[in-house]
Amino acid sequence: MKPDDTSDTIPSLVLQHIEIFVCPVCDAGLDVSADRQEMRCTGCGLAFGCEHGIPLLFWPNEPTPRMDVTQDVKAFYEENPFPSYEDFDSPWSLREKAQRGFFSRLLDEQIPHGARILEVGCGTGQLGNFLGLSQGRTVFATDICLNSLKLGQEFKQKCGIDSTAFVQMNLFRPVFKRSFFDVVICTGVLHHTSDPFLGFRSILKLLRPGGCIIVGLYNTYGRVPTDVRRLIFRLSGNRFKFLDPRLRDRCVGETRKRVWFMDQYRHPHESKHSIGEALGWFDQCGVQFINSIPKPTAFGGFSPDEKLFRANPRGTTLDHFLVQLSMLLSGGREGGFFIMIGRNQGTG
Ligand SMILES: C[S@@+](CC[C@H](N)C(=O)[O-])C[C@H]1O[C@@H](n2cnc3c(N)ncnc32)[C@H](O)[C@@H]1O
Repeated sequence: MKPDDTSDTIPSLVLQHIEIFVCPVCDAGLDVSADRQEMRCTGCGLAFGCEHGIPLLFWPNEPTPRMDVTQDVKAFYEENPFPSYEDFDSPWSLREKAQRGFFSRLLDEQIPHGARILEVGCGTGQLGNFLGLSQGRTVFATDICLNSLKLGQEFKQKCGIDSTAFVQMNLFRPVFKRSFFDVVICTGVLHHTSDPFLGFRSILKLLRPGGCIIVGLYNTYGRVPTDVRRLIFRLSGNRFKFLDPRLRDRCVGETRKRVWFMDQYRHPHESKHSIGEALGWFDQCGVQFINSIPKPTAFGGFSPDEKLFRANPRGTTLDHFLVQLSMLLSGGREGGFFIMIGRNQGTG
């Protein structure tokens, strides 16, 4: 365990990269105080503290005419940190579990040594900690929810994962310089914000030209089975929980089941999106479509050694309809979630 990660001081990974941090309010650079207890803006002079080795750089959204859900969503996750560490107690168990999930395994195998990775909305930080197990990477895992970040930080400290640092950040108020990261990962987050497309543009700015963005969203069709189950649970007073595959899975611990139930069925805000809509975001922002899970073409399968970052055809409207219909018919596994991968062409 490194001494700098045991206290409330700014962690060494942040110190090493202090030149990439900016103030969430005015965008000027940040300095670290001599006692390493806070970061201070060189422009507006605001000071930001640090708790459990997590710089507290959260700043609320600008007031907008649109309803802003950030505070409600933050309060929800402070109560229900997602997805929790119940099933892991060591780097080996984390690695073993992550490698069983083919997406995280492929990411780990295919993101190059030395890559600078930003995870936005990392929750309790399993992916950020897993990717940081490989030496040579720099991983910043960020979220608005301090209780989730603390769980990630606790695990990181216990396992001595030096390549990952946790930072509290609102994705609408980024705290990193533009164009720094090679990979930006944001799964399961934008659909819990008031303006997912604005959020997408906000995090895309942090990606270097040529870098890859990975976005996971609830699918309009794939989410229908969850919506139906939510209605049944509500009408039946939460009986019939066995209808959700994860809630009846004996291998999933009680804490993870409770957190899953809250996240899927009691969330204060979610939106749904289609493959075509996400492709529209890519087109408007100068992002080339590379890959998606599921593939955007009908009958396009994923191989166990899929090249995640090799360009694929983007499919037709009919393809998208069939792919999304099959998500619905298969019962909306993983909550009807789809993942899009794109390359920043730097023209957006
Ligand atoms: C469903 S969890 C996903 C966690 C993780 N990415 C995963 O896939 O397991 C959604 C996360 O998004 C975070 N989040 C929501 N709005 C956010 C915002 N405006 N900025 C940063 N994080 C946000 C929440 O705090 C929560 O931890």
